[in-house]
Amino acid sequence: MAPVLELSGLSWSVGAATIVDGIAMAVEEGEFVAVIGPNGAGKTSLFNLVSGITRPTAGTVRLDGADITGLPPHRRARRGLGRTFQSSSVFPTMTVAEHVALAARAAGAKRVAEDGEGVRAVLERVRLARRADDLAGGLSHGDKRKLELAVLLAPTLAQADSSPGGPRLMLLDEPMAGVAAEEVGELTDVIRTLHRTEGRTVLMVEHHMDILLGLADRVAVMHHGTLLATGTPDAVMADPTVQEAYVGEEL
Ligand SMILES: Nc1ncnc2c1ncn2[C@@H]1O[C@H](COP(=O)(O)OP(=O)(O)OP(=O)(O)O)[C@@H](O)[C@H]1O
Ligand SMILES: [Mg+2]
Repeated sequence: MAPVLELSGLSWSVGAATIVDGIAMAVEEGEFVAVIGPNGAGKTSLFNLVSGITRPTAGTVRLDGADITGLPPHRRARRGLGRTFQSSSVFPTMTVAEHVALAARAAGAKRVAEDGEGVRAVLERVRLARRADDLAGGLSHGDKRKLELAVLLAPTLAQADSSPGGPRLMLLDEPMAGVAAEEVGELTDVIRTLHRTEGRTVLMVEHHMDILLGLADRVAVMHHGTLLATGTPDAVMADPTVQEAYVGEEL
């Protein structure tokens, strides 16, 4: 079976600056791969290339074996690729439930406004049902992150059957950024459920190794746009070239 995601020679230059530099990586079905690397290493730029927000200057992106390098983001989403953004992206004056309903309608779900139960079920999967009628602007950072995950899962309401639905491959760009320490545990549990219980493949940027230890099968380390190392969290932490890349920064 082809890997869910396969990157080869993936590069992105802006003017004379090469920001993503010849990334080759395969992610297998059901795998959880963490992407770490110092600030400015090119992690978000890599996610932009994979999700189609930017076009590579060289190389290819394959999803389930098919070359999707030329597809726009919405066509990739339809093929099962979803992503969240590094900065929170909720609408402050819309309620939590309205976010899910809107995303479900955008994915083609009919009568979703009346389907309060379906919306609630999606919110329960990210442990946010208790805030269904609250405005998103008043949520804690952790709850905003959960809402972003609910929005990713919302297309499930457009499906005729009751399969988990939503993206099979999730790209999460620093979902813990800005989240208070006491909320990190529950958010980690939600992400773990999306991966382990629902079987989704996850690619997640995260700086904190302690969070990744119980979550990631494999860690990919970026540095100056290149892939410096990949391996288990323990192997990567023990790798001297990785430690060198992080000189002056916390690993
Ligand atoms: N549109 C752009 N034009 C020019 N340079 C860019 C652009 N986007 C990103 N860069 C540069 O590319 C480099 C990598 O940025 P990127 O945001 O991908 O890093 P990152 O690894 O996600 O960093 P962080 O950990 O801070 O989120 C940085 O030096 C950044 O300034
Ligand atoms: Mg980034």
